[in-house]
Amino acid sequence: MKKDKLIHLKLSLARLIIDIVRKFLFFLLYLFYSDINTKKHSFIITESFYTPWKLDKKFQETLKQIKKNTKCDFYRLYNLWQLIDEVSHLNGDIIEIGVWKGGSGCLIAKKIALLNLKSKIFLCDSFTGIKKTSKKDPYFKDHQVSDTSKETVIALIKKMNLKNTKVVKGIFPDDFKNSFKNKKFAFCHLDVDSYNSTKDCYNWVWNKMVKNGVIVFDDYGYHTTEGVTNFVNKIRKNKDNFFSYNLTGQAIIIKR
Ligand SMILES: C[S@@+](CC[C@H](N)C(=O)[O-])C[C@H]1O[C@@H](n2cnc3c(N)ncnc32)[C@H](O)[C@@H]1O
Repeated sequence: MKKDKLIHLKLSLARLIIDIVRKFLFFLLYLFYSDINTKKHSFIITESFYTPWKLDKKFQETLKQIKKNTKCDFYRLYNLWQLIDEVSHLNGDIIEIGVWKGGSGCLIAKKIALLNLKSKIFLCDSFTGIKKTSKKDPYFKDHQVSDTSKETVIALIKKMNLKNTKVVKGIFPDDFKNSFKNKKFAFCHLDVDSYNSTKDCYNWVWNKMVKNGVIVFDDYGYHTTEGVTNFVNKIRKNKDNFFSYNLTGQAIIIKR
């Protein structure tokens, strides 16, 4: 009984400390992002300790190679890394729409290679920035995030000696209505930042996803890409999908 009380006291104290740190960090971030809606947003720190990426040498090596080429933090990248294990038994290729300088895409490609999968990864981007922004997108405007090129991604692919990638340039899905006709995908990383691009890409890719295939929406948990949050909140209720909000900020939808 005494021991139980002590354990509970420790937990309460730890929680108090975390809460103070969380509020302080949120206050600091608010100085940069004063447009955050404090009713909907706060700073997430969880109470868990298990951090398997620290012991995953291959992940750490790959992270070093790609980290200058990505906007994703290592939590999100590790989640992608792990999810490729989960879809490795499925018969389908892999696609990333929203590649920027190729960081997250090449990390996925490396994992596919390490698992000796037959799947190919298509790395798809306009390479001219974000598209189809509207009133639904509070932060980004068209053409932002255009500081990249197809050549930048190809250089990273060469540096990492990846043989399983194909870089595709164009606006998705508009320029590809008649391409990828018989393709089936086991995994899709969708990272295009605007409501309409996310909606159109999702509608385009959904019919190409195999059963139990996984779509990861990178932008779900960010106040800067709230259009994507709102879109995913609409489709999460669909009967043919299983939805999960990962506290990394990613939304995960699995095709039932
Ligand atoms: C946030 S960045 C992707 C970040 C990347 N996944 C990483 O590892 O950091 C978003 C990218 O989406 C691309 N993009 C946005 N809308 C698009 C669309 N409809 N078709 C093709 N590319 C698009 C932009 O050009 C930009 O490179």
